[in-house]
Amino acid sequence: MFEHVETYPGDPILSLMDDYQRDPRTDKVNLSIGFYYDDAGQVPVLGSVRQARALLDTRAESANLYLPMDGLPDFRRAVQGYLFAEADCERIVTLQSVGGSGALRVGADFLKRYYPDSQVWVSDPTWDNHLAIFQGAGFAVNRYPYLDGSGQQVDFPAMLEVFARLPANSIVLLHACCHNPTGVDLQPQHWDALYALFHERRLIPFLDAAYLGLGQGLDEDAYAIRALARAGITGLVSNSFSKVFSLYGERVGSLSVVCDNVAIAARVAGQLKGTVRTNYSNPPRHGAQLVATIFANSELSALWRSELDGMRERMLAMRRALFERIEPGLEVGYLLRQRGMFSYTGLSAEAVDRIREKHGVYLIRSGRMCVAGLNSSNLDAVARALSDH
Ligand code: LMR
Repeated sequence: MFEHVETYPGDPILSLMDDYQRDPRTDKVNLSIGFYYDDAGQVPVLGSVRQARALLDTRAESANLYLPMDGLPDFRRAVQGYLFAEADCERIVTLQSVGGSGALRVGADFLKRYYPDSQVWVSDPTWDNHLAIFQGAGFAVNRYPYLDGSGQQVDFPAMLEVFARLPANSIVLLHACCHNPTGVDLQPQHWDALYALFHERRLIPFLDAAYLGLGQGLDEDAYAIRALARAGITGLVSNSFSKVFSLYGERVGSLSVVCDNVAIAARVAGQLKGTVRTNYSNPPRHGAQLVATIFANSELSALWRSELDGMRERMLAMRRALFERIEPGLEVGYLLRQRGMFSYTGLSAEAVDRIREKHGVYLIRSGRMCVAGLNSSNLDAVARALSDH
């Protein structure tokens, strides 16, 4: 009956992680998947998370009931403050999701229902799963240009030119900060110009924010999201707590929809719940409880902010340290210019393969390097590998 089922080619990021785990070399280095490792090469348990877990353990045991379809109310309220700060949140709907990917999918399913004829536009390049998620929801997915010929800067005029020609209600996916895979971001003046154009052309922005705080700082990185709420346009925001709270396996994220007014927001909230109910019914409890506990406690929030700052600063230090170790003549200025967990090395897929085979250093075949995997013990080996391929 399933004779015609084709072999799944695998996901370019997750399959590589499997290969890395199978690799018997003890000096292998994982710079592929977006995990934040500390300087000891461990994915950390944040102190704020550890304390939140201890606090939760002291509470009287209660039955492990289902959460509402849209998730934990305390979590949803706190996330609105985190994402939108001072904005009027009455007209913003936020629901807890199964990680950032779950938020993208629920948002995509919702949009497909109300804008079945729209098409989606993603940056070229983007995270591979963006294409897969929107295609999976039934959309045609197109690409808009992102970097200029140098591969180092956003080609903003080229982006604008494409957006200026899109039909109304086209859906434009943008990375709020720490663009994956390039590490090259839009600046505040770009966002302001984009939102003015989106307003005029009636385009629907969908911001994906998986790395808030890992680029320039939390408030700087949230500019695109807060400016969207101020701009008086409708849009969607997906965000993930996997990296910024080091809570990967908890699958905790959220989807927000910025609506025109409170009445519309109430109807959108209801339909989003329906989308969740027919998908996975309701989200898991524990990760959202941890995040809500941290946001509700000023000491834990301050501790988490300092841990987030620490992650960002360590990645910046690693960028500088790797840059200094690479022999002169190799163009690696991108390490200093780009921000966030990823750098786009410009290496070809074949060069990435050679580096992996010869040196056990794993990058994504697009040439993306996860700088969060660098540490003081593997810098020399990575510098050697990048210089010899
Ligand atoms: C990445 O881009 O490496 C991360 O977002 C992890 C993933 O799920 O692909």
